[in-house]
Amino acid sequence: MNKSEAKSRIEKLRKEIEEHDHRYYVHNKPAISDFEYDILLNELNTLEKKFPEFIVESSPTQRIGSDITKEFRQFEHKYPMLSLSNTYTEDELRDFHNKVQKASGGQAEYVCELKFDGASISITYRKGILFRALTRGDGDKGDEVTLNVKTIRSIPLRLSTEKVPDEFVMRGEILMPRAVFNRLNEERIKADISPFANPRNAAAGTLKLLDPHTVASRSLDCMFYFLLAEDLPHDNHYDNLMEAAGWGFRIPDSISVCRTLNEVIQFITYWEEERKKLPYDIDGIVIKVNSLRLQEELGITAKSPRWAIAYKYKAEQVSTRLLSVSFQVGRTGTVTPVANLEPVFLAGSTVKRATLHNADQIALLDLHLNDMVYVEKGGEIIPKIVGVDHSFRNDRSRKIVFISNCPECGTPLVKNEGEANHFCPNYLHCPPQIKGRIEHFISRKAMDIDGLGEETIDLLYNKKLIRDFADLYELKTEQLIPLERLGEKSADNIINSIRKSIATPYHRVLFALGIRHVGETVAKTIAKKFKSIDDLISADIEQLTSVREIGPKIASSIISFFADNDNILLINRLKAIGIRFSEVVETSIKSDRLNGKTFVISGVFQKHSREEYKEIIEKNGGKIATSISGNTSFVLAGENMGPSKKEKAEEYGVPLLDETEFLKLIGEE
Ligand code: IVH
Repeated sequence: MNKSEAKSRIEKLRKEIEEHDHRYYVHNKPAISDFEYDILLNELNTLEKKFPEFIVESSPTQRIGSDITKEFRQFEHKYPMLSLSNTYTEDELRDFHNKVQKASGGQAEYVCELKFDGASISITYRKGILFRALTRGDGDKGDEVTLNVKTIRSIPLRLSTEKVPDEFVMRGEILMPRAVFNRLNEERIKADISPFANPRNAAAGTLKLLDPHTVASRSLDCMFYFLLAEDLPHDNHYDNLMEAAGWGFRIPDSISVCRTLNEVIQFITYWEEERKKLPYDIDGIVIKVNSLRLQEELGITAKSPRWAIAYKYKAEQVSTRLLSVSFQVGRTGTVTPVANLEPVFLAGSTVKRATLHNADQIALLDLHLNDMVYVEKGGEIIPKIVGVDHSFRNDRSRKIVFISNCPECGTPLVKNEGEANHFCPNYLHCPPQIKGRIEHFISRKAMDIDGLGEETIDLLYNKKLIRDFADLYELKTEQLIPLERLGEKSADNIINSIRKSIATPYHRVLFALGIRHVGETVAKTIAKKFKSIDDLISADIEQLTSVREIGPKIASSIISFFADNDNILLINRLKAIGIRFSEVVETSIKSDRLNGKTFVISGVFQKHSREEYKEIIEKNGGKIATSISGNTSFVLAGENMGPSKKEKAEEYGVPLLDETEFLKLIGEE
């Protein structure tokens, strides 16, 4: 391709990509698949690399940081992202006010804003176009999350007015509405993914997802509260925000200018109640000095400005009656007391239960049945009891006694020295432990067996069809069909899904065994160090603890697991079924990304063999051809690709992908 051909191809590609961006980000109506989009972007990138003289700042490759793998790069904040000092009382607020009055000679005006509880974001606009979005990071540099931020409909990509500073930064808070949060967590719980603790974590977690499509599906929102530029339009914070509102930014209408401390306190009091009606969480009020000149005079301390302060609300609490305490037995036998409460509305949802952690906690609260208790939502999703209102105690109150026998199997409970929890030692025969182990075995991150939920496991267990997870592989469709609520089709699906799980990789099988303290990550580490289960079974405590991440607690749990002959018998049965108990090199994830695409593979490769590439392409839905023709979609080109093949590819206009580009495109790198 000569220079002028390259130039016109580059321009054509840019136009096309911009159109797709617009369809996707503004209208949410993509016309092509991600893969096809990446191909266009990739071709543009390659051409720009070859002809760097044609690179311009507005090229899609530059606008998204030419980051086609969508990994996060770090950039410095032009203006450091400071935090705010917190106050909790009116006295502290008065101190702040006095200091400000002193510096201003008594003329200070404040802007009061809601303190949104989400993830802060800093977005740079250049020539009216969204250029780059950074998370707070350490305040000096943040992660680039531009692509994800662009999916948020309330954030303008391009401003409709030209009367804006050449470059400016908008700061704001990315929020997940409580309703979206509740829905998302329900879905996660159903899919056996751990729920987010609160909307803030959910928003922050979503911003860091690698796939902007998933981000787009999470309905994030954004509220802006800060405009920064070298040449600001006004000399006070409030007018600057209002100006930004005129440019198309979403500035909350709760913002208010207060001229006295009393007005500030009124604002705080008003929102303390009113905040409960908002669709998202706020955790306080931010009070900012309005005048920029005075802000500058007051300056900043090490990490926060002296011209602003946050007034934090106390976590919302309600009082309700403790009706009863139940004791739950988990899959590892741990007994957890749970408080059953008179239903009460708290911070956006109805609360009926609260965790009581363990016997110590009950003793600490000196909890009695029928007590009026204070409930609070902390960082955790399950609310907790933080205190008792003793004035309500009456004759009907009875001290709660921690049970001494397992509520499920009657075995006397055990409490190990130094541990807070009681547990049921009847590992082999206690029903919730057996069912819990099977539920864990089939869960998504373990063997990922579809169609079997808690209820079906219950049913199968009660009908004596399963007693351990190896029994699952002996189930027959005919046995499932007569079970309540299971038709032929779901029975078939379950059996297929069980059969499919035989190919689950070794590290997930290890996790699925449910060895105490061996979570997903530890299981991966173990699988890397002990290439087969036999290596692991024969490992002694020293060999185990020599692995980083494996401490004495995990090591002794592994040793005692394999010391139990029942577990060895179970593993032998699973082995006979064909479950993988050693590491097999996986070449690829399966997808349909390459559907309808025909590849010709040519040359020598570094990262995978030619055979492996063939497998990867086929596993992702693509086809392999031996010679280049008009039907070829791509050539996967290694080193030493023959010149005649190259010519042929050029003749048919077939793009060449090197192995790195290819792997990036299918999400392998
Ligand atoms: S102003 C120097 N205004 O609170 C000014 N921050 O600890 C700093 N936040 O990380 C920010 N609502 O993400 C400001 N109306 C608001 C805010 C707000 C929430 C967050 C922000 C920052 C943290 C400050």
